[in-house]
Amino acid sequence: MISMEEPNAIIDQVAEQVSERMSGQQAGHGVDHVLRVLKTAREIQAQVGGDRFVVELAAWLHDVGDAKFHDGVERSAEFAREILRDLDVGNDIIEHVSHIVDNLSFRKGSAAKELSLEGKIVQDADRLDALGAIGIVRTIEFGATRGQPFYVSEANDGSTDSSKAGTGKTGIGHFHEKLFKLRDLLNTEPAKHIAAEREQFMRAFLDQFLRECGEE
Ligand code: ADP
Ligand code: NI
Repeated sequence: MISMEEPNAIIDQVAEQVSERMSGQQAGHGVDHVLRVLKTAREIQAQVGGDRFVVELAAWLHDVGDAKFHDGVERSAEFAREILRDLDVGNDIIEHVSHIVDNLSFRKGSAAKELSLEGKIVQDADRLDALGAIGIVRTIEFGATRGQPFYVSEANDGSTDSSKAGTGKTGIGHFHEKLFKLRDLLNTEPAKHIAAEREQFMRAFLDQFLRECGEE
């Protein structure tokens, strides 16, 4: 099928549907996250190339059926197909976008299939949203919804390594266990560059935080 509609008109319709479907989701996991991923994905695409239309569609659709909001079942690829089939989008593009959405997630790990350049771009943009000032806020918000503290003082958790003070099930623990490892998992050079700066900011934040707590 040859697309008769303007790509921008299609993106607008996808945006509308995704915003509606994700409207009940809290900050950090809602449309705010999707908009940041879209912005970052565009920036990376401008530097490394790839099909901008596919990048934008995949960014919009990547969390549309997030398992956290669908009884533990990841339905993003299924919803992506559903939304795109109702629009004037060619089959090859539908398959490409839903393949990206299906294989993007960190949780898929080694089960994930090789991503196209467009998929690598959106995956990097998604991972970058867990870093920097936004990453700090999202970690704290996530912890708050689970009654998980951001920090437990060294004196209380028996840790002897002050650089990792309070790394049990805490927000700071999450920084060390997941977030500071993301940089090595990124696909594209521009993303690695952005990640380095964001990680540096998080480390400075942690240093100051622990100083204020009297840990250093
Ligand atoms: P994604 O947006 O890729 O689906 P997740 O749902 O895994 O990512 O996580 C969303 C946000 O919550 C991220 O910023 C992540 O760092 C944070 N988060 C995930 N797990 C934890 C945890 N155990 N403790 C604190 N923050 C977490
Ligand atoms: Ni995401």
